[in-house]
Amino acid sequence: MLVLGIETSCDETGVAVYDSDRGLLAHRLYSQTQLHAEYGGVVPELASRDHVRKILPLLDEVLAAAEVSKHALDGIAYTAGPGLMGALMVGGATGTALGFALDIPVLGVHHMEAHLLAPMLESTPPAFPFVALLVSGGHTQLVSVKAVGDYQLLGESLDDAAGEAFDKTAKMLDLDYPGGPVLAKMAERGQIDRFSFPRPMTDRPGLDFSFSGLKTHTRNLIQKHRGDDVLPDEQTILDICAGFQEAVVDTLVIKCRRAVLAAGMKTLVIAGGVSANTRLRDKLKVALGKEGVDVFYARHEFCTDNGAMIAYAGCQRLLAGERNEMTITATPRWPLEQLNVPSGKIKLQEPV
Ligand code: KG4
Ligand code: ZN
Repeated sequence: MLVLGIETSCDETGVAVYDSDRGLLAHRLYSQTQLHAEYGGVVPELASRDHVRKILPLLDEVLAAAEVSKHALDGIAYTAGPGLMGALMVGGATGTALGFALDIPVLGVHHMEAHLLAPMLESTPPAFPFVALLVSGGHTQLVSVKAVGDYQLLGESLDDAAGEAFDKTAKMLDLDYPGGPVLAKMAERGQIDRFSFPRPMTDRPGLDFSFSGLKTHTRNLIQKHRGDDVLPDEQTILDICAGFQEAVVDTLVIKCRRAVLAAGMKTLVIAGGVSANTRLRDKLKVALGKEGVDVFYARHEFCTDNGAMIAYAGCQRLLAGERNEMTITATPRWPLEQLNVPSGKIKLQEPV
């Protein structure tokens, strides 16, 4: 089955073609980073308009790169949520209109399920069951995954998501937008233990997270080290980056270890933008390796938002017979567990 995937949930326009027999044929991504940089965060209306400008040229480009005609497509998958309403509508309208014109099935895909399945695009994919840590700009969740569509939420952030905490801390330090990856890069040159940071909610049982206190702690630390209207000196900024990142990473590692041990699982999957963080990957591998647990993640470009994960997740569900009516579906808030289907109903198809 040849599936076109469209991602427009936030500030990245992603389009891809995935074939259940041949694997990923092509993918293209246009990032709106420059557009939002001067505002220091995503401006929803600008995001929607830019998706409108970019989606059709990207679609043509990806079909040409995959060397397939749109008439060869068997189905279309687009991100139906969670995300920004206007941005979601662009992908939904495009996918639905194209599906209607070509008379092929269309399916609205859950953005976090697509993140969760993105490591399946790699040459050594994880096998079910596993615990997944979903860490993006909007979500921090631990999920028990028995099969596609068999999800049980084990814990989640009670306030800020991990990526959001990275972004807000970067903003406090006046780092370039988008903050997360920039802060992570600077952390490499900082001293981890010059300042002490809390590891929130790790000293009590449970699998929930809270990152807003860590943010306040960091704000106070910055305040203490700055002049009247100047930021702390460069080395202090690097040391704050390193200490902050270490605190977030340690907190995630402690909860992941707790989750896999409690669930009795031997596989951990990390997905979403923050799973691109190398310190997180390295520390998880060491800590969970000691427990005989393997850690899986997608290649760097498929950790953050992309069309390939939408095409892949959509293909699995379209093959199982799922499809939408020819109406645009956009669901800004959409709990993952609402996707549950009888376990094993959706069997992953391995490309040959
Ligand atoms: O999955 P994603 O692209 O979009 C959402 O679905 O939210 O995740 C974006 C988030 C942002 O908060 C970004 O700062 C964070 O992922 N991020 C990182 C890194 N790369 C992206 N955070 C820490 N370290 C990184 N290397
Ligand atoms: Zn995402």
